[in-house]
Amino acid sequence: MNILVIGNGGREHALVWKIGQSPLIRKIYCAPGNAGTSDIAENVDIELTDITGFADFAIKNSIDLAVVGPELPLTSGIVDEFEKRGLRIFGPRKEAAEIEGSKVFAKYMMQKYGIPTAKYESFDSPKEARNYIRKTALPLVIKADGLAAGKGVIICNTARETIEAINAIMVEKRFGSAGKKIVIEEFLKGEEVSYMAFCDGENVLPLTSAQDHKQIYDGDRGPNTGGMGAYSPAPIITQKLDREIIDTIMKPLIAGMKNEGRHYKGILYGGLMIVGGKPFVLEFNCRFGDPETQPVLARMKSDIVPVMIAVVDGKLNEMEIQWYDEASVCVVMAMRGYPDTYEKGIEIKGLEDIKKLENLMVFHAGTIKNDDKISTNGGRVLGVTSLGKDIKDAIDKAYKGVNLISWKGVYYRRDIGKKAIRS
Ligand code: AMP
Ligand code: GLY
Repeated sequence: MNILVIGNGGREHALVWKIGQSPLIRKIYCAPGNAGTSDIAENVDIELTDITGFADFAIKNSIDLAVVGPELPLTSGIVDEFEKRGLRIFGPRKEAAEIEGSKVFAKYMMQKYGIPTAKYESFDSPKEARNYIRKTALPLVIKADGLAAGKGVIICNTARETIEAINAIMVEKRFGSAGKKIVIEEFLKGEEVSYMAFCDGENVLPLTSAQDHKQIYDGDRGPNTGGMGAYSPAPIITQKLDREIIDTIMKPLIAGMKNEGRHYKGILYGGLMIVGGKPFVLEFNCRFGDPETQPVLARMKSDIVPVMIAVVDGKLNEMEIQWYDEASVCVVMAMRGYPDTYEKGIEIKGLEDIKKLENLMVFHAGTIKNDDKISTNGGRVLGVTSLGKDIKDAIDKAYKGVNLISWKGVYYRRDIGKKAIRS
């Protein structure tokens, strides 16, 4: 088979790495890709917004299956375009991807189908939103409806903060048209978990559990990022809780989407808060998590390609997935300044030395290769991902790898995975 992986992050490098191990594969392309993907796949220079460009490429190069990493092409309708042209693609159609593309729609679905989530109201008028807040207990969480690169969620502890958040999103339009509507919801206190499952429109096949570290600083402090590291499994997910998540969240959502005529195929990612042992949904994503995918795929024993084909063909009920018992930890090495502004083009040292270490994968995110030099090209640069006999061993292995890599301005958290040992 010829496969096209779409995206350029650590998640896509991990996908290319895992797909590349399948005996079913003849050739892999990655578009646009990064320095890491170019070692395994042929990188193709197509912009993430160029949906017809991807479809044209797929036809010209006899692509048997396209796999989409990021949300933007999905919410823009890349799956619809591929299907229209008779091409096979892994991911939800535009109408189904709205589960991530619109928080108002996601909350509507959860309410309609009885899926546990924070209490909420949605608004398209700033005046009504401000009136509502006057009568509502704090803290509150204010969310822009549309995609805002992970920045459209503001946690407000004071009345003043709520007014500022409403104004920033709806009046000053900080996130553009993503802020035309907002969701205001109750603040949930608990522990966050990322729960991903393959879905074929009807059936749900979970991946193993993972947890990420969203904040930039140690101790989960500071502003949210795309994710500074992740580990798998998440010890908080007991067998009982796993069952409850499938039965009260994943299956009802998939059945609900089918009922709405928006059959959901691809990965459904639930960003969950575990409160007093019960799971609540903070958000749904229509794609693999980044960086959660890195440790999760490191632990996947089964070939991923037949599972992806089963998703596309609606045959997931015939599938099962084997996982390695080992734990995995991914430490994201970033460029100082991220998640705000940062420099690019700094040469990375140590990438050759690290190849000698066993059970260690370096998944590239913002990297670029010029001649034989690899340099930084984004905020999150590398995801050093280990396999160890338990989380502690995996942490030690991952940081041993991190210590071999350096560049001017490198920043990473030093406490990735520690949460898993405490709980
Ligand atoms: P979201 O994009 O909706 O997952 O929100 C981003 C982050 O904001 C989450 O990962 C949580 O850390 C936090 N968050 C979102 N909703 C809530 C909530 N209702 N209560 C507490 N924290 C929340
Ligand atoms: N790591 C969080 C996400 O992928 O949305």
